[in-house]
Amino acid sequence: MKSMLRLSCSAGLGLAGAIFASAGSLAADRDASLYVGVKLCGMCHKKEDSGNQLASWQKGAHSKTFEKLGTPEAKAVAAKLGIADPQKSAKCLKCHSTAYNWTEQIASEKIQPEDGVTCESCHGPGKKYMPKSVMEDRKKCIENGMVYPATKSCELCHNDQSPTWKADRYTTKDGKKTGFDAEQAYEKIKHPNPKVKH
Ligand code: HEC
Ligand code: HEC
Ligand code: HEC
Ligand code: HEC
Repeated sequence: MKSMLRLSCSAGLGLAGAIFASAGSLAADRDASLYVGVKLCGMCHKKEDSGNQLASWQKGAHSKTFEKLGTPEAKAVAAKLGIADPQKSAKCLKCHSTAYNWTEQIASEKIQPEDGVTCESCHGPGKKYMPKSVMEDRKKCIENGMVYPATKSCELCHNDQSPTWKADRYTTKDGKKTGFDAEQAYEKIKHPNPKVKH
């Protein structure tokens, strides 16, 4: 049954070869046992004067990617691929939740699929870089697994393997249509720390 689903899914998307081949090594490199979950990140990143990244994430699209899979819109997308319940299908959860870590089964028990796409999907798993002494030093953060700049992570999900991909969703500065433009997309979800000089 599983392989049939995969077949019908890739056929439905009109793709040749393995699904998610374009996710690349950045995703494969991530050790799911090092994820800590949004609650821990949020403990230190909810101060108003430092930009309250937790609140910004909660307001934005990425905290609601699981809920999105419960909408009639999502069910219609899934039905075309032979998937009855997108909130239970790894084919959808692999990009709509950090818990699946781009795999077809839960990769981290510390994170619930319901949490959606959390901090660590973009910034990398945090167990080694989240101690305060490391966090305050960007070089040390990167040495300990932080993905920087985090825009390197966007296209792990924002790519044409997404069943709702629209090749003309964005217009680049020089007028070309494109499915994703990290710079423009980041403007919509940014959560800077006003105390840090950029
Ligand atoms: C113990 C508190 C603490 C925890 C837990 C924590 N951080 Fe931080 N983080 C900091 C501090 C302190 C800084 C330095 C800047 C500042 O003062 O906000 C920082 C900076 C950052 C930066 C900016 C790095 C740079 O070089 O620009 C990112 C991104 C970040 N944290 C993400 C995370 C994520 C994701 C998690 C969860 C995996 C996390 N943090 C957990 C305290 C913490
Ligand atoms: C390759 C990663 C990926 C997979 C797999 C994926 N999605 Fe998504 N999904 C996205 C991204 C990224 C967006 C944001 C819109 C965009 O840029 O495509 C999105 C947006 C959506 C939306 C909102 C529509 C829109 O145009 O913004 C729906 C509904 C949706 N997905 C349903 C599903 C369902 C159902 C499945 C499983 C059959 C699924 N997705 C699998 C990445 C994915
Ligand atoms: C969709 C991807 C994404 C998610 C989800 C996300 N971030 Fe970020 N974040 C970024 C990007 C991109 C930047 C810009 C810096 C960079 O490129 O690394 C950034 C910047 C930051 C900074 C540095 C701010 C500064 O001005 O120096 C902190 C701190 C941070 N994020 C914490 C978090 C925390 C905590 C969460 C979860 C509550 C989170 N982020 C969720 C993509 C993301
Ligand atoms: C783990 C997968 C994943 C990663 C990584 C990811 N996104 Fe998303 N993103 C999604 C999904 C799924 C949605 C759809 C949410 C919805 O429609 O409810 C989405 C929606 C969005 C949206 C709102 C829809 C739109 O296109 O306007 C923006 C903006 C966005 N993402 C920007 C980014 C940026 C910038 C990065 C990298 C810094 C990033 N995302 C990384 C999965 C991801």
